[in-house]
Amino acid sequence: MKRDTKLVHAGRPPHVDGRRPVNPPIVRASTVDFETIEGLEEAGRAGIAGEQSFTYGVHGTPTTFALESFITELERGYGTRLFSSGLDAISSVFLALLKPGDHVLVVDSVYAPVRSLVTRFLAERGIAYDFYSPRDVRVERFFRPETRLVYAETPGSVTMELQDIRRLSHAVRRHERIILACDNTWSSGYCFRPLEHGAHLSIIAGTKYLCGHSDVVIGSVTADESVYPLLHQTRALLGSAVSPDDCALTLRGARTLHIRYPEHARRALQVAEWLESHAAVAQVHYPALPSSPDHSQWTALYEGAAGLFGVELAGFNDGQARRFVNCLRLFGKGASWGGFESLALPCDMVSNRSIEDWSSRGAVVRLHIGLEDPGDLIEDLGQALRAASAAGPS
Ligand SMILES: Cc1ncc(COP(=O)(O)O)c(C=O)c1O
Repeated sequence: MKRDTKLVHAGRPPHVDGRRPVNPPIVRASTVDFETIEGLEEAGRAGIAGEQSFTYGVHGTPTTFALESFITELERGYGTRLFSSGLDAISSVFLALLKPGDHVLVVDSVYAPVRSLVTRFLAERGIAYDFYSPRDVRVERFFRPETRLVYAETPGSVTMELQDIRRLSHAVRRHERIILACDNTWSSGYCFRPLEHGAHLSIIAGTKYLCGHSDVVIGSVTADESVYPLLHQTRALLGSAVSPDDCALTLRGARTLHIRYPEHARRALQVAEWLESHAAVAQVHYPALPSSPDHSQWTALYEGAAGLFGVELAGFNDGQARRFVNCLRLFGKGASWGGFESLALPCDMVSNRSIEDWSSRGAVVRLHIGLEDPGDLIEDLGQALRAASAAGPS
């Protein structure tokens, strides 16, 4: 089955008595009431063994399982578990794999809260870390006997560097103890699937494109067969739970991912090309642009692009970048992305990179291009850039 067909058919309920609702019913439950204790125990054993077993709301209901099955098919994995947010999914991967004395390698262009998770929370608990450059093609030279996890994100947050997951997984899989996990939120299973390239785990913040309507917070981790039991056990131990209503909303949004996602990309490319030729713009960080250093890798490995990219403003300081964002009329000012609406966010690159020094470069604004008319967005960006440039440094 091709991706678009899966998006329509995966996770649908079976026919019962020759009929079925198109969407899985929303089953809300904390307690699941069994006829007998033996029935409860049997269902519990199936759950412990890793099956989708309806035993207690925390472990999932049929609605949760429908979304998990859907994402497993989309990501071409062995199994998926859902988490209360994208960050909960990420932190659960770290907690599942790492213990005091272990070492983790994290890509320098990682989603900023993951940097804090690693440098504060994990470091305080005796877990060593190193950041590696997303452009580094020999990450294995940082492997130590204690290295247990390589954590990638492709493309990187804000600066959008692509990582060669095939190369990375080849290096990782020479060492049985090391697991490769990849944040796949930008692609959301639509245009890139890390497990197909040898990663063990793929994480999606469903909050973004899967839901697509800016009204749900949810995360998923899809695993290959070797790591799925550990993922499943850890989730049960930590007790993360998701609302069946949010699963139903995410599934509803995801049914049209293949219609929305390329539309974001088409509009984003038009806006990115316009920005690239603007005098106030030093660089647009977007692999779909032919000028991107990652463009050939993107063409070879990706089946599309998201509507999210970074804009480096020529000579703008942080104050001017903020003024530019505040002058935008059609772009919301907000943290999340992947919904139908355009958003702008100034980003602190200096504090959020350990390897690359951003102190002498222009300020960076992350743009999410929504489903508005790109001509209107370009006009809005033009007037905001003029206003911020005219005001000068602040
Ligand atoms: C790349 C990436 N991964 C993960 C997350 C976290 O997702 P959530 O907001 O659902 O915690 C975000 C949020 O912006 C993100 O940009």
